[in-house]
Amino acid sequence: MGELARRTPDDNVTGPFGAYGFADVNKFLMVYKFGLAEIGTKINILAEELAHRGRGNPIEHVSPRLKTPASITAKARRIECPLTFDDMRARIRDIAGIRIVCGFVPDVYTVARMLTRQPDVHLVVTKDYIAQPKPNGYRSLHLIVEIPVFLSDQVVAVPVEVQLRTVAMDFWASLEHKIYYKHDADVPAALRAELAAAAEDAARLDERMQRLHHEIHGPRQ
Ligand code: GTP
Ligand code: MG
Repeated sequence: MGELARRTPDDNVTGPFGAYGFADVNKFLMVYKFGLAEIGTKINILAEELAHRGRGNPIEHVSPRLKTPASITAKARRIECPLTFDDMRARIRDIAGIRIVCGFVPDVYTVARMLTRQPDVHLVVTKDYIAQPKPNGYRSLHLIVEIPVFLSDQVVAVPVEVQLRTVAMDFWASLEHKIYYKHDADVPAALRAELAAAAEDAARLDERMQRLHHEIHGPRQ
């Protein structure tokens, strides 16, 4: 219940979620919390088991996050989604999100494959911003997966956004995010170009580290 307890009064409900009460909102968010827990367990199992195989753990760190009610309603307004639970459930697929940061680019694809080939994980959408980086330089592999959550009287397929990237990509994305917010989304052109160039540098660093790793350890499976 950590995430819910930490919410600010602004996130509470009567405003952003219209007629819905706090208990309704908590119930709406609950399955996403469970979905995150299910995916989190799968990733922890993979990380621990892969570490035991003795060739190093491809997963550096994992951070789950649940969108706050304020951020859910902000997105709903942005995409012109009515503020009903049914509409938001259908159209906002990143209420539950988990970021998996890996050592090397091939690890990103290995972990994605290991996760999505599990029979209870249903892959809904893949966006490969590593193969095709965004114009600003952003790189990551994004998956929307659905995972079954077993409640007392029903099974709910919960969507979870999984973002996989390397440490270098994560470093870039964190700083870009900060700069973007600092400039209130209106980043000067010269700074945009510098950021895109820095993303290329990060990609080259990834290649270089991967080459070194390959020389020392041979190819990963
Ligand atoms: P959102 O409505 O923002 O969720 O975007 P989307 O539905 O078009 O999905 P997309 O897969 O493009 O992006 C999903 C998430 O990836 C975002 O919410 C961010 O967390 C992250 N992301 C996407 N693009 C960028 C970017 O240019 N910079 C950074 N730092 N993060 C990004
Ligand atoms: Mg998002």
